[in-house]
Amino acid sequence: MRYFIGNWKMFGVPKSINILNKINAFHIKDKNRKKYRVIVTPPYTLIESYSKYFKYKKISIGSQNCYQKEQFSSNTAAVSPYMLRSVGAKYTLIGHSDNRSEGDTDSMLKDKVKYALKNNLKVVFCIGENKSEKKNKRTLSVLKRQLTKVLEKKFNKNNIIVAYEPIWSIGTGKIPTAIELQKTTLHIKKVLKSIFKKNSPSVLYGGSVDGRNVEMFKEIKEIDGFLIGGASKSSKKFIDIIKNYYR
Ligand code: PGA
Repeated sequence: MRYFIGNWKMFGVPKSINILNKINAFHIKDKNRKKYRVIVTPPYTLIESYSKYFKYKKISIGSQNCYQKEQFSSNTAAVSPYMLRSVGAKYTLIGHSDNRSEGDTDSMLKDKVKYALKNNLKVVFCIGENKSEKKNKRTLSVLKRQLTKVLEKKFNKNNIIVAYEPIWSIGTGKIPTAIELQKTTLHIKKVLKSIFKKNSPSVLYGGSVDGRNVEMFKEIKEIDGFLIGGASKSSKKFIDIIKNYYR
């Protein structure tokens, strides 16, 4: 199974559902439809209405983050996994670099993963090195640390997807070379196997993915799909990525 996950970030109002309607219409008619899943993470404000609307359709709705407490707490503006599940979210991103840079620590991330899984949310756990770590050839050790500090064998690996997003690539148009990416993805899968003691969860790539560069990414069979930011805000761009992937 391949995944195409659209991360809307701070984008979208109720009528933006038109974008998802077009993607859904494409998906149900696509001859490759059984090979992949489409998930979109709109902002919190849209999760309930979009989840209701897409309940019996192809697209799944997820959240971009969740708070590290299970149900209710006195933290202003926090939204827990329980609350997300109660309005129909099926997935949540955890550890996106935007949130790591705002202070998410490994121990907070571990709690987020734990409570998300406990509340039946599937977790898309994001990891990635920054520009200076890459320059200093620390990519592989950084990724290993990010994975081993948070993920544990007791977590249900079937409900975890890992998204490798090099920070220097997010929103910049810069992407790793095929050789780099293959090496990194294999490394991530190896670390995941050592944590879970069996097959690795799916590993996605994210960072400036578009309809053109997906032609290169699709050659790397170890990559199980994509986390797509900018290009997920346009139905045409998002559909082009899927079309070109299977072309
Ligand atoms: P991008 O964002 O596709 O705009 O680079 C990816 C992400 O941050 O998830």
